[in-house]
Amino acid sequence: MTAEPEVPGAPAHAAAPEPDGVTDGLMDKVVNLCKRRGFIFQSAEIYGGFRSTYDYGPLGVNMLRNVKNAWWRSMVQLRDDVVGIDAAILSPSSVWEASGHLRNFTDPLVECRQCHSRWRADKLTGPCPNCGSTDFTEARPFNLMFKTHAGPIEDEGAIAYLRPETAQGMFVNFANVLQTTRKRPPFGIAQIGKSFRNEITPQNFVFRTREFEQMEMEYFVPPDEGQKWHEYWINERYRWYLELGMPPDKMRLRPHGADELSHYSSATSDLEYLFPWGWDELEGIANRTDYDLRRHAEASGAHLDYFDPTTGERYYPHVIEPAGGVTRTMMAFLLAAYDEDEVGGEARTVLHLHHRLAPYQVAVLPLSKKEQLETMAREVLHQLQPHFMCDYDVTQSIGRRYRRHDEIGTPWCVTVDFDSLDDRAVTIRERDTTAQVRVPVDVLVAELRSRAGED
Ligand code: GAP
Repeated sequence: MTAEPEVPGAPAHAAAPEPDGVTDGLMDKVVNLCKRRGFIFQSAEIYGGFRSTYDYGPLGVNMLRNVKNAWWRSMVQLRDDVVGIDAAILSPSSVWEASGHLRNFTDPLVECRQCHSRWRADKLTGPCPNCGSTDFTEARPFNLMFKTHAGPIEDEGAIAYLRPETAQGMFVNFANVLQTTRKRPPFGIAQIGKSFRNEITPQNFVFRTREFEQMEMEYFVPPDEGQKWHEYWINERYRWYLELGMPPDKMRLRPHGADELSHYSSATSDLEYLFPWGWDELEGIANRTDYDLRRHAEASGAHLDYFDPTTGERYYPHVIEPAGGVTRTMMAFLLAAYDEDEVGGEARTVLHLHHRLAPYQVAVLPLSKKEQLETMAREVLHQLQPHFMCDYDVTQSIGRRYRRHDEIGTPWCVTVDFDSLDDRAVTIRERDTTAQVRVPVDVLVAELRSRAGED
């Protein structure tokens, strides 16, 4: 993979050769679409952009929320053994001292002696990607955590960190959750939220950024059940991506070699996606053993073991952790969904997004701006809004509006035409097949809910 140089004027994402079978220029096309249609903007763009930091626009925020909702639904709502929390992002040194991140959460940093750009040694393939030199300094460990001071006095005691993973929030709240929910192993604590890493080489659009969102779940199990649950969660998580439309031939499972395991892990398997630059991580599923609970119990003096009333034994539960990235997952779904085809001899761009992920599920389109049509179209819109995220679009020809919604992945367009005023029926147009059917307004919500599998 081509690493992105830490120098001004560098491209926003690396232009890497694409493996066979991947659409030419796919990355550029998706990046352009994201900006043009309001999915993702460069942060602080009017000031020249804040490198490798992104803002999510009106469509992006819907899709990001949909990814999180789909994860929460599968990991929390549809289960009786997982509860959620929302822990603080800002945390004291003691947490990161105990977790091992202060010592171990590092990447090997080298500097090019020629142009002074800095790189992750383990991602370099030889010469400096910026100037071609092969003369680098010795690698030194570079801690990825963002450090700050909490309060007005900037001394040692005020040092705080932006969390580099959401996981520690679950470990430090283990006893609180156990007491307040009466859960017992096997059970899980889930969280979605922002994490921050001072990545040496952020790259590939939102694939690796310094500010990003994670969706993580710590599943606490009896010590002798670790391997069983590790396999269970690998399968569950794989299934989640496929159910949301990820093509099976673009996904694979890759167990980590002993040399790449994180400091807390006894075994990790990555779910990988075939990105335009090759296979890369979407999500890691780790067996963290009892590492974190023990470390926090030792460091804090709190009781973080579990008393099993049925056996009378105390033990530290082992932890299986499926850890995914919201922003990275959204990008993978966009890449997988992007397509160019022809409709009636006309080229179109279409995102074949699963309806749960699409920014809008339904677009309501009055055929013209005539007042009577708009009045009825707004009635239809208000009927649909409690059930679906809807767009209302009245500008330009109906054909242009269909194309616009194909391009942002809206699965269903509902057109209100002049006949609708007489027969109280509307046309549903389906994105992937472009098939159109006429449906009475009275059953429109039921029809669309049934298409969405929600009746
Ligand atoms: N608690 C374990 C943990 O944080 P990780 O593999 O470092 O494990 C989990 O991170 C997931 O978070 C990754 O699989 C990826 O999807 C996402 N992620 C990690 N670093 C990221 C970054 N710099 N930018 C975007 N997403 C990132």
